[in-house]
Amino acid sequence: MKMKNNAKTKEVENMRKFLVTISLVFLSVVVMYGYADAISGVCSNCHTMHNSQDGASITGGAPNDQLLNFGCVGCHTASTGPQDTNRGPAILHTTSPGALATDQGGGETLAGGDFYWVDNGDDAKGHNVIDLPNVSGADGNMPGSGLTPPGWDPVATGSSFVAGQVAGGEATWTSQLTCAGQYGCHGDHSVAGSFPGIQGAHHNNAGGTASQATTATTVGNSYRFLWGIKGLEEVDWNWSETAAKHNEYYGEDNTVARDAGGLASYGSRDTMSFLCAECHGVFHGTIDSNAASGSPWVRHPTDIVLPNSGEYAEYNNDGGGSAGPYSLEVPVARPAVPADCTNCSTVTPGTDIVMCLSCHRAHGSPVNDNLRWDYATMISGGGATNGCFTCHNDKN
Ligand code: HEC
Ligand code: HEC
Ligand code: HEC
Ligand code: HEC
Ligand code: HEC
Repeated sequence: MKMKNNAKTKEVENMRKFLVTISLVFLSVVVMYGYADAISGVCSNCHTMHNSQDGASITGGAPNDQLLNFGCVGCHTASTGPQDTNRGPAILHTTSPGALATDQGGGETLAGGDFYWVDNGDDAKGHNVIDLPNVSGADGNMPGSGLTPPGWDPVATGSSFVAGQVAGGEATWTSQLTCAGQYGCHGDHSVAGSFPGIQGAHHNNAGGTASQATTATTVGNSYRFLWGIKGLEEVDWNWSETAAKHNEYYGEDNTVARDAGGLASYGSRDTMSFLCAECHGVFHGTIDSNAASGSPWVRHPTDIVLPNSGEYAEYNNDGGGSAGPYSLEVPVARPAVPADCTNCSTVTPGTDIVMCLSCHRAHGSPVNDNLRWDYATMISGGGATNGCFTCHNDKN
């Protein structure tokens, strides 16, 4: 009996040690995970105090803003793989991810696509951001549109927008697109230049990278430094994406009359589609010709719910009678930002939302118009099930 009790005590003690060890291991994993992608490492990896070492320039030229060793794109460039040597997520690859429409997304580009193609001179395959090494002021624009974005509506951001008014509201742009700031997508639009526009965000990336950005009151706590925009940030920027593991985008079933123009036609200004509308407002705010709001549309609708009827009820599951899993090629937004990816693979027609990124990549792609698939292969009656047919599966 005594023996048995001792054995039992021993067993309990062992179990206790085991549990303590396990929880310590778990804790350190959690702690390391939490910091894994936030800014870390010695200051000198990224900063130079005087831009001088033994009299030679550290940057190879003039000093950078915020005493940095590199410019914006410098820390976000890689040959292959998801990150550069300073662990910035790679938005510009120096080795081609490939030329086919399928050469985008997990394992080839991050979620935003890649600036590889536009930086190599193909204007139609990405945003012509002036910070890119091979994009110049002279070549940088779409034919005909000058510096002004197609569908530009200065009212979209207006003076009341949390992140300031893009381009100061000028009717015709006098500057080319930048990463951040007044003429950029990221950060604060009330100040000129990419670095002033993003100041403080890197050391204030709330929750690190794998986080639910639902506050969006500062650059650092907004989705991917897109001030005012909400979403759930996947830890490796979708490099290893699957239907059950990916970024989640915020959308809104905006039933306000979308034909009137003016501020009201944008609904709330914190969705992924509104990010695009900051510069391409007309394509988001003026989509409907009738006062009742709804079909027939005059521009492809976004920030509307995917109907739970007809072909849309068979999203990504042509002829299957119900919706298939989340398509990485044709993602949908959610009406609430989930806390984690537990239900990421499920798409619910009647709830989930069509957005600009259902069809486009934000940075660039191997096909024209930054599309997620080749529009030229969308042939009515052709039998394909991808691209447009993921939703319009009665049209193939
Ligand atoms: C992995 C790269 C990296 C490392 C390491 C790093 N920084 Fe930074 N830091 C940046 C970037 C990028 C910016 C500019 C963009 C921004 O402000 O978001 C910046 C901006 C700053 C700024 C100005 C903006 C602000 O947040 O106030 C200060 C001050 C600063 N860093 C100090 C430091 C110090 C001190 C260290 C070392 C303890 C350090 N940094 C380490 C990348 C880094
Ligand atoms: C010195 C290196 C460095 C420079 C310069 C730099 N970044 Fe970063 N950036 C990083 C690193 C490292 C991360 C990943 C850490 C993180 O997510 O907090 C990052 C992350 C980001 C992210 C993703 C944030 C998220 O929520 O996942 C964005 C967007 C970004 N940078 C934009 C910019 C812009 C715009 C500039 C220029 C104004 C810039 N960066 C300049 C190193 C840099
Ligand atoms: C800060 C302004 C700005 C924002 C925000 C913005 N764009 Fe653009 N966009 C431009 C400008 C300027 C052009 C025209 C010049 C160029 O192609 O870079 C353009 C061009 C485009 C083109 C045509 C591309 C081509 O090369 O022919 C597409 C497609 C596009 N944008 C989609 C989007 C989507 C989708 C979003 C949201 C994820 C978005 N844009 C957000 C400014 C912006
Ligand atoms: C993410 C799902 C989705 C994708 C992908 C998609 N659509 Fe749509 N589309 C919709 C929804 C939802 C509507 C509005 C349906 C309604 O009002 O009932 C719509 C409306 C339309 C309309 C107007 C119909 C009307 O009633 O006025 C056309 C035309 C159209 N889409 C063509 C396309 C083409 C072409 C593509 C590919 C480039 C495409 N769509 C990709 C979901 C999608
Ligand atoms: C249903 C798919 C789909 C959705 C959703 C969608 N687009 Fe497009 N977009 C396209 C296609 C296809 C093209 C190229 C062919 C065309 O314009 O018909 C295009 C072209 C563009 C262009 C280039 C216009 C030009 O003048 O060359 C811009 C800019 C653009 N889209 C922005 C947006 C923005 C902003 C949103 C969200 C408000 C959006 N798109 C939503 C499919 C889509």
